[in-house]
Amino acid sequence: MSEGRPGGSTRRVFIRTYGCQMNVYDSDRMAELLAPLGYGPASAPEEADLVVLNTCHIRERASEKVYSELGRLRDLKTERRSAGRDLTIAVAGCVAQAEGEEIARRQPAVDIVVGPQAYHRLPELLAQAERRIAERREGGRRRAGAGVLDTAFPPESKFDHLPPAGTVRGGSAFLSIQEGCDKFCTFCVVPYTRGAEYSRPAAAVLAEARRLAAEGAVEIVLLGQNVNAYHGEATDGSIWSLARLLRALAEIPGVGRLRYTTSHPRDMDDALIAAHRELDVLMPYLHLPVQSGSDRVLAAMNRGHGRDRYLELVAALREARPDMALSSDFIVGFPGETDADFDDTMRLVQEVGFASAFTFKYSARPGTPGAALDNQVPEAVRSARLAALQALIQRQQGDFNRATAGRTVPVLFAEPGRKPGQVSGKTPWLQSVHLDGPSTLIGGIAEVELLEGFDNSLSGRLAVAAARTAA
Ligand code: 5AD
Ligand code: SF4
Repeated sequence: MSEGRPGGSTRRVFIRTYGCQMNVYDSDRMAELLAPLGYGPASAPEEADLVVLNTCHIRERASEKVYSELGRLRDLKTERRSAGRDLTIAVAGCVAQAEGEEIARRQPAVDIVVGPQAYHRLPELLAQAERRIAERREGGRRRAGAGVLDTAFPPESKFDHLPPAGTVRGGSAFLSIQEGCDKFCTFCVVPYTRGAEYSRPAAAVLAEARRLAAEGAVEIVLLGQNVNAYHGEATDGSIWSLARLLRALAEIPGVGRLRYTTSHPRDMDDALIAAHRELDVLMPYLHLPVQSGSDRVLAAMNRGHGRDRYLELVAALREARPDMALSSDFIVGFPGETDADFDDTMRLVQEVGFASAFTFKYSARPGTPGAALDNQVPEAVRSARLAALQALIQRQQGDFNRATAGRTVPVLFAEPGRKPGQVSGKTPWLQSVHLDGPSTLIGGIAEVELLEGFDNSLSGRLAVAAARTAA
């Protein structure tokens, strides 16, 4: 990370990531992009010359957090300036895309605003910002502030301009294969902030996967806003589906685990379900958001499928892979959601039995069709429904963890555990396991006997070779 300039890194960058795994991936790419400019990593804004906030716009709270963080950074910048130094502040990601002008207006301390499809331009934007800062120092003639806005969707792909990816953490690496969304769910800002669906060519994905495997990735997690809508061009001009891509990735030596997220029920096809039957390295865990269990609400959300179709998919996936664990996102209190609609959601959850799930209160996002609906659900009702759904999901998650206790399964060790002498990792079903063991396990897979299941994790112990009964 600190290579690239003679003498190594001379400056430090702190990148704070909000929101989804796509943003985690983008932040890693930004760090790699900045390294040749002499930026090494800082562990806090106080140590940094450049702070990048890689933002999320999906719910109101996510965007508001950015403005309060910007307030703190402005104070830090003021402090720096009075000491004769400076701090460059950049806002990247989806808030930058959606509210570029607003950011510049609300927080003039911001130097750079760059949208999620344009951050390969960061070095150029940074150079411009540095020039403005230098001018300000020299003459104080020009007002410093966010003069740089680059939030348009550029015609070219950022992937053509980025350095090769190579961030492997605890044996696992993200690989972005698809961006954007054309589905236009009526609650969601993603089609507006991330743009139209785009799939990376298959050869580029395979090359990146081989590189990651060579750098120690045992697990590759394919990312996309609509990852199973993937349709990437292959070198022979044919179009590969996600199922086809997974088959090719499964052949790469060293790749022991494949996952993909986030999927849409509408793009779950027979070939993809068959891939779950046939590919051992494809993990038996799928994040398949349903959002609601009510046909009426699903239609109002423009999800393009009903409750029965979702249940049919779950049954087909479990038929293909009997140990398949499922997770989902849920929104409660979408405009017009009645008690009966919410009961439908609770019944769907009972019927499926989720291993985990993310639950959200509906948040009206400016510019989305949902925000214009006049039958918004009162806050108190939304809160009560959220609490009821969360309690049910939490119970199911705990039950799932307890049900897997006693099994011996391969665990990918990702990081040191909470206590000294402990390591922690993930089961095939993405559960966290904590156990006593050497840190040399980190980055690899070992068989673990799961001892006890709790609400959010499991305890375990390293299995002796003879006890091997892999999942
Ligand atoms: N309000 C609440 N939750 C939302 N999500 C997306 N948009 C909204 C919104 N306006 C949730 C969905 C999606 C997840 C990433 O965030 O459940 O799947
Ligand atoms: Fe948003 Fe719907 Fe697209 Fe998912 S499928 S990113 S929820 S519009």
